[in-house]
Amino acid sequence: MYNQLPKEPSSYWIDSTTFDETHSLTESIETDVAIVGAGITGITAGYLLAKEGYNVVLLEADRVFQGTTGHTTAKITAQHGVIYDELINHVGEKSARQYFDFNERARQFIETIVEENELDCDLEKQDAILYATSRQAERKLKKEIAAYEKLNIPHTTMDKLPFDVDMKSALVMKDQAQFHPLHYLSFLLREFKKMGGKVYEQTPIVNMSEGQTPILQTRDGHNITTNYALSCSHFPFYDGDNYFFSRMYVERSYIVAVEGKQVDGMYLSVDSPTRSVRTATVNGKPHLLIGGDGHKTGQGEPVMNHYEALQTFATEVFKATSFPYRWSAQDIYTLDHIPYIGLLTDNYPNAFLATGYRKWGMTSGTGAGILLRDYVMKRETEDMALFQPNRFLLDPSLKEFFKQNMNVAKHFFVDKIKPVEKKLEEVKIGEGSTVIKNGRRAGAYRDEQGKLHVVDTTCTHLGCEVEWNNGDKTWDCPCHGSRFSYEGTVIEGPADEPLTSLSE
Ligand SMILES: Cc1cc2nc3c(=O)[nH]c(=O)nc-3n(C[C@H](O)[C@H](O)[C@H](O)COP(=O)(O)OP(=O)(O)OC[C@H]3O[C@@H](n4cnc5c(N)ncnc54)[C@H](O)[C@@H]3O)c2cc1C
Ligand code: FES
Repeated sequence: MYNQLPKEPSSYWIDSTTFDETHSLTESIETDVAIVGAGITGITAGYLLAKEGYNVVLLEADRVFQGTTGHTTAKITAQHGVIYDELINHVGEKSARQYFDFNERARQFIETIVEENELDCDLEKQDAILYATSRQAERKLKKEIAAYEKLNIPHTTMDKLPFDVDMKSALVMKDQAQFHPLHYLSFLLREFKKMGGKVYEQTPIVNMSEGQTPILQTRDGHNITTNYALSCSHFPFYDGDNYFFSRMYVERSYIVAVEGKQVDGMYLSVDSPTRSVRTATVNGKPHLLIGGDGHKTGQGEPVMNHYEALQTFATEVFKATSFPYRWSAQDIYTLDHIPYIGLLTDNYPNAFLATGYRKWGMTSGTGAGILLRDYVMKRETEDMALFQPNRFLLDPSLKEFFKQNMNVAKHFFVDKIKPVEKKLEEVKIGEGSTVIKNGRRAGAYRDEQGKLHVVDTTCTHLGCEVEWNNGDKTWDCPCHGSRFSYEGTVIEGPADEPLTSLSE
């Protein structure tokens, strides 16, 4: 069935955005603020700090916007799935309400920028709706409604959805929004440059020397000496002794665009596998973006099955027949589901990070950009305590900590002795598989011209075994979510070294 889907994944947001010429860093430089990563977090922080008169450089490993931000669904809402009941139990009512206010302010920040500058980025007010189709999900949703009541979060309920699913109950957060994220961010980036900000693409940062004045090192050996370093690289580009890789995990999700259909509102199912629905204008015509089917990166069933599941949902519920786009991306989860925004390491006063938005980075990434500005400007705010990355909460983090690390240990030890899937010569055109080459475990992909690309499947981050992703034709690591092309080059960290090539 999935042969109706486009052969190659391609994000509509990226396809419909004009990019300036690429400039990479070709010499060592000094600056006030160096921001690593040009997604929504880095660009928001860069724009705000340039506005305050700082000399800011944005350092991007790939091209601007092409990380998770370029592959999002772009709902702008403080309704982050079922979260407020969990937050009340975990950090208490005051902090749970603070989380809501933080994200509401971020939504208002985006809307104000769009309104004041009359931006053409398809921003529309829409209600956010969580719906349950099973009794179990309905019970969860009831608790979430009670949490909204406790926290005085404005809400309503709904008796019927505008599409045909067996809905038991629904929770509505009114007057949220959706947009074209890259048209909005293109404006922030243009303004950033007008204010003197510099952007260096194709400039991966591979290390940072510790001390009062951070010095960042590029892969090509250039140094950036800076008063402040901000890690907005999704997975932190620098770990220090913080073991972020053991305090976070990465989940991938999928999106298909459905031509000619639309609904009012932005929907998310409470039941798993999740189903997310919003309308977007694609090439001037209404389309639905149907998303979901999340799973831990590099784990679970063949990737095309996830696209097929979304396609089946779209066909059954919306009578969809045409799917002009499909794409996927991953986002980071912290152990307690609250982002890490603050000091990168305790021994390092001028380096900060922001990550862990749990697939809600349009608001959390915007809020993080604002908070990072406040850190640099030494403006104390109440939000700093809630998001500080070095927090360690016993419940449920500790339980989750052991669960995550058991999971990593399983992939580290068990996957190394798993039998390989094919003999080298059996790998067909367009196919990837684990094989044995020269007596060792390897990963092989045969391209459309019949050429074999063989890599060592040991992830260069901490040594887990990468798995083949047949949807994107990449090698994905189940431990901390690094991704590599079939030739072994790094697509997403934390790994910063390529897989060893075993091609002849
Ligand atoms: C399928 C999906 C749907 C989503 N839908 C929504 C939604 O509807 N609403 C919502 O609020 N959120 C949503 N999210 C989440 C949201 O898109 C992300 O949280 C957000 O885009 C993360 O932004 P970021 O700036 O932190 O990271 P990114 O956009 O990934 O940017 C980080 C950048 O850092 C660069 N980088 C990494 N390492 C280095 C290095 N060493 N040196 C230099 N550069 C480096 C990367 O190349 C990348 O460009 C969704 C996420 C997914 C996966
Ligand atoms: S071992 Fe950490 S990402 Fe692969």
